[in-house]
Amino acid sequence: MSSQPIGVFDSGLGGLTAVKQLRSIMPHENIIYFGDTGRVPYGNRSVATISRYAKQDARFLLSHNVKMVIAACGTVSSTVLDLADVLPVPYINVISPTAYAAVQATKNGKIGVIGTRATIGSCAYKKEIEKIDPNITVIQRDCPLFVPIVEEGFISPDDEIAKLSVEHYLSDIKACGVDTIILGCTHYPLLKPVIGQYVGEDVKLIDSGKETAIYASKLLEREGLLNSSDAEGECAFFVSDRTEDFTNTASIFLHSNIGDNVERVDIWTY
Ligand code: DGL
Repeated sequence: MSSQPIGVFDSGLGGLTAVKQLRSIMPHENIIYFGDTGRVPYGNRSVATISRYAKQDARFLLSHNVKMVIAACGTVSSTVLDLADVLPVPYINVISPTAYAAVQATKNGKIGVIGTRATIGSCAYKKEIEKIDPNITVIQRDCPLFVPIVEEGFISPDDEIAKLSVEHYLSDIKACGVDTIILGCTHYPLLKPVIGQYVGEDVKLIDSGKETAIYASKLLEREGLLNSSDAEGECAFFVSDRTEDFTNTASIFLHSNIGDNVERVDIWTY
């Protein structure tokens, strides 16, 4: 049993969607969150740059004595493949739990995957799904406008910009008749109402943050690392750029107010 915090990082604040799920599944766990707001977005960068950034992010979390590192970022998860080898604590990312959940969910063997350019370019989800079940057809699509759309708050099912973008990016996936879509980026769960409205309620939308949080809780239990305290866990938030607007933006992703509990970190020193 361990009261050490779980470390979660993302290229920005989108990873708070995963923190929200972790808090609801494991309310007694302490969490340290790092959002690399000074260097976001990662999704259009080279693998070498994403890898250098992700290792600094993980080293920052280790400096807080975390018992596990979670990459909530779809882009890091799909492109940085050696992070587990360089960390002294269990490391998990979003790919394998999310791919597994999608394979369990599909009935017709057709799965859509959406994510950033880097995530889709890596084919990480496609490879993982085909490893689990080679008979499944995977249709992928990068949706580069979704991240800024969410960050601008255009997430209501009536929002014309969100509706047009969803139609633009998802028309091929819809036409292929998938019955399951992986939301392979931290920001996309916020577009669930718009995406769900476009693809129809019979299509299951798999949230990578949720599946990863479920997997993290099972792994911590198996390793005997769950926190035995009955007290509500504490969360500490760190970012690499200005902290001023953090509370407002964070409340979009977390659906709760965290006050001004945030500190700035010079991530280049890690
Ligand atoms: N966090 C990233 C992801 O999940 C999206 C934002 C970015 O491009 O850095 O892929």
